[in-house]
Amino acid sequence: MPTPQKAIFNGMGQNQWYVHLSRTEGADLGVIKTALSGLVTDCNAEGINLTLGFGPGLLPELTDDVPEDFQAYTTVESTDGSGRQAKGTQEELLLWLNHDDKDKVWKAQYDARKALEGHMAVARETPTFIYGESLDMTGFKDGTGNPADEDQPAVAVVPDGASGAGGSHIIAQRWVHDLDGWNALSVDQQEKNFGRKKFPEIEKTDQQEAYSHLSHVELRENGNHGNEESGKRNEIARRSTPYAFHDGTVGLYFMAFCKDQAPLRERMRLMYGLDGANNVRDAMTDYSNPASGSFYFAPSEETLAAIIN
Ligand code: HEM
Repeated sequence: MPTPQKAIFNGMGQNQWYVHLSRTEGADLGVIKTALSGLVTDCNAEGINLTLGFGPGLLPELTDDVPEDFQAYTTVESTDGSGRQAKGTQEELLLWLNHDDKDKVWKAQYDARKALEGHMAVARETPTFIYGESLDMTGFKDGTGNPADEDQPAVAVVPDGASGAGGSHIIAQRWVHDLDGWNALSVDQQEKNFGRKKFPEIEKTDQQEAYSHLSHVELRENGNHGNEESGKRNEIARRSTPYAFHDGTVGLYFMAFCKDQAPLRERMRLMYGLDGANNVRDAMTDYSNPASGSFYFAPSEETLAAIIN
């Protein structure tokens, strides 16, 4: 079995840095490969967790080991007249670094950007951090419903024998929170919106409203999402962390891994009230929407080594 990129399952450091890049005109793939090889060496030497994800426009130029159904991220729009949308901003390369020490993370990504200069341009970047006991800024613990650590590879990694085996689909989005609006809600309403209790409690609410987050993302075999009557299906492994910009913009950097891309697309469409959600949007989208979104694929260690060496 090919080996997944180890940082996906390593446990995150306190500080993350997300850098999205695309090629500039006349880009030389040889230079890009050398720069990425240098980044991998630096991160290994410093003990930095590094995950490299390639977009659907770039991966097939680097390897034949491309997964099935690997699509570019397109904007997801509600059809209920609210104008709510999850903006698509697909790029070609994602560097995801994390470590407890922010200076190490900054330096490694900075050096990689310099080495890529003239061949890839940075489209956007977001430094993020772990907030308390893995809280979202809404005051809810994030990650409770994740599969157990030992079950995550089966959920997140393309199985042996399939194209892209050992690799993982990635979704990366920067959600922008309206924290004032959220904090004006009663705790009871906040809990109904998520379908879980507010930290330090974490259990599910007794009932799931049709608009709850869990009614849209906790996919169940019988279609009654968020409810326990049937088994979970198409689970994902989430690694989201909050960010805060100097202009006051705050939110959640949503990142998740899955062995298929379709369950990521399915959840996004449901959150915006499409398909089986019958125009009932996830209540979260009244208080938060993504300003950016893209899909990548993190190839196995073996395929990555063949690409960059
Ligand atoms: C502003 C954006 C978001 C926030 C603040 C948020 C927050 C949360 C919270 C507090 C929970 C309950 C605790 C937990 O299980 O972690 C949760 C569960 C979950 N969320 Fe989100 N989430 C966001 C976006 C998304 C997106 C975009 C997806 C998928 C595309 C997603 C997928 C899930 C899943 C799969 C669960 C667990 C369901 C289960 O228990 O099976 N979330 N989220």
